[in-house]
Amino acid sequence: MVQRAVLTLLVGCAVAFAAPTDTVASISDATISKVKANAVKISTHSWEIGTALEALTELEWPSLSVFGGSLPPPVKLSSGTASDVIQWATKIVKAKNPNSLPLIDGDGAVGDPASIGTAVLLTNWTRTDRSDHEFSTAAGHQLTYLLDDAPRTSDGAISHRSEQVQLWADFVYMAPPFIAYFGALKGGSGGLSLLKIAYQQCKLYRQHLRDSSGLWKHIVLGSWQDNHHWGTGNAWAAAGMMRVLETIHHSKLASQMQSEQNDLKSWINEIVSASWKHQVCVT
Ligand SMILES: *[C@@H]1O[C@H](CO)[C@@H](O)[C@H](O)[C@H]1NC(C)=O
Repeated sequence: MVQRAVLTLLVGCAVAFAAPTDTVASISDATISKVKANAVKISTHSWEIGTALEALTELEWPSLSVFGGSLPPPVKLSSGTASDVIQWATKIVKAKNPNSLPLIDGDGAVGDPASIGTAVLLTNWTRTDRSDHEFSTAAGHQLTYLLDDAPRTSDGAISHRSEQVQLWADFVYMAPPFIAYFGALKGGSGGLSLLKIAYQQCKLYRQHLRDSSGLWKHIVLGSWQDNHHWGTGNAWAAAGMMRVLETIHHSKLASQMQSEQNDLKSWINEIVSASWKHQVCVT
């Protein structure tokens, strides 16, 4: 399970595509350690840091990931728990420009900095200094940027680019899981509407990017497009929807979002089934 998470997220986010378990189990701890060390070392861009933080959480602290335990997570963590994730998120927040809403520079991408937001929310939730509101404020700014500032399509899809309205499959892994996690921690009617926004963004992105093959294109709208079925892009979309689904499922609001969970499952399956036809199986 843990190895599958690291495979999923570090090696190009290729969704585990129901890979035979023996293949997964054959990846040694030593290999995983190397992949992990390298991922931490080379991650400098917002989306890389967000993905690495998520992979570390799933690998080392699975009960704190959205696949693991009920949400919200515990307020008090035993000493050392998630320390690598928390330290990295803390470093980002301490370095944040107070005048900018996103957590970090996104190289023109709207969605990418939000990928770090999940770790920032976890850091806020479990912080030992309860009078420190810096993490909460930073996460709130990131959400405000996505919901109120970023450009959108006329039907409401949040653009992946800041300079023009353009939708990229990658967005689905970067932003909706953060919006959903924010909602699961917030709870109540405000939390429910955030979970619904996360779901709605997945729905809109699918409407714009999926074609009759069941696969998603990479980039649509704006001044240029990439209509190819980029494999990793399909994996970003499926894995992002999986995190939104699991966040809803483990939240206190799960029973109020049954049809949304069913939709997400079928949209993930749609990508996995359509991709499966293109797998070259080496035995
Ligand atoms: C930060 O944590 C506090 C609990 O200490 C919580 O009330 C607040 O909603 C959290 N902020 C966010 C943005 O989740």
